[in-house]
Amino acid sequence: MLIKRHTIQTLQARKGRDPIVALTAYDHPSAVVADQSGVDLILVGDSVGPVVLGYANTLPVTEDEMVHHARAVVRGTHRSFVVADLPFMSDRTPEHTLVVAGRLMKEALVQAVKIEGCNPPQLSAIEALVHHGIPVVGHLGFTPQHLHQFGGFKVQGKTPEAAERILDQAHRLEQTGIALLVLELVPEDLAARITLELGIPTIGIGAGRHCDGQIQVFHDLLGLHVGHVPRHARRYLDGGTLFAQAIARYAQDVRSGSFLDVEAPGYVRQD
Ligand code: KIV
Repeated sequence: MLIKRHTIQTLQARKGRDPIVALTAYDHPSAVVADQSGVDLILVGDSVGPVVLGYANTLPVTEDEMVHHARAVVRGTHRSFVVADLPFMSDRTPEHTLVVAGRLMKEALVQAVKIEGCNPPQLSAIEALVHHGIPVVGHLGFTPQHLHQFGGFKVQGKTPEAAERILDQAHRLEQTGIALLVLELVPEDLAARITLELGIPTIGIGAGRHCDGQIQVFHDLLGLHVGHVPRHARRYLDGGTLFAQAIARYAQDVRSGSFLDVEAPGYVRQD
């Protein structure tokens, strides 16, 4: 049976009907598992920095690192729509954004790029990308690349003025041509209003129940993240403990000499 990859059109058709399941992935094995488990959209997030590369936050992630991880992820997928983050400062000029997005599309073969925020640099960048036929996912609310401006991991849009500003930004991004919108750390009623007023799907993370889809970080979902785990993360497995137990059993088998026991699974005869 031919499995068809999701497109912007198939995802947009889900708005208000069938929730979009989105998950991050940063390497080939996690992409294979997510793709085969029926995840609709895989995001190669710049959260690769804090989650996988040991950086304090997403700011140090480079363009080369994004291309490297996105290539591995795309190779592991057949069905999921793959989006890669444009790393911090790749919107410094629209020309530069085109170079970075072009690399992600041509070298990594992703289907879209995601850009955080709605200030003049991002709006010019989105216009240029859309003009060149590159699908763009927007990202509003708490945008981790602007962490220092926000003064920490804080819910955005809590006052009526701040909520109105984010709602205006959502409309502005839609008019500029984004295909999907991620809403991170905003009050549930604001996310619901944006979802109702926009024609494109919203995908929430810490944004309540009323978005058109939800996204989670792979390592948070599976209990593999050793750093700061946000409150909105939902853990379905204590993977870290299971991994540690398995590795401890392996170490014990090697030390006791039973690892290469001829009766043990995995034993390869040498003759
Ligand atoms: O980088 C990332 O993982 C993200 C998601 C949290 C939406 O941007």
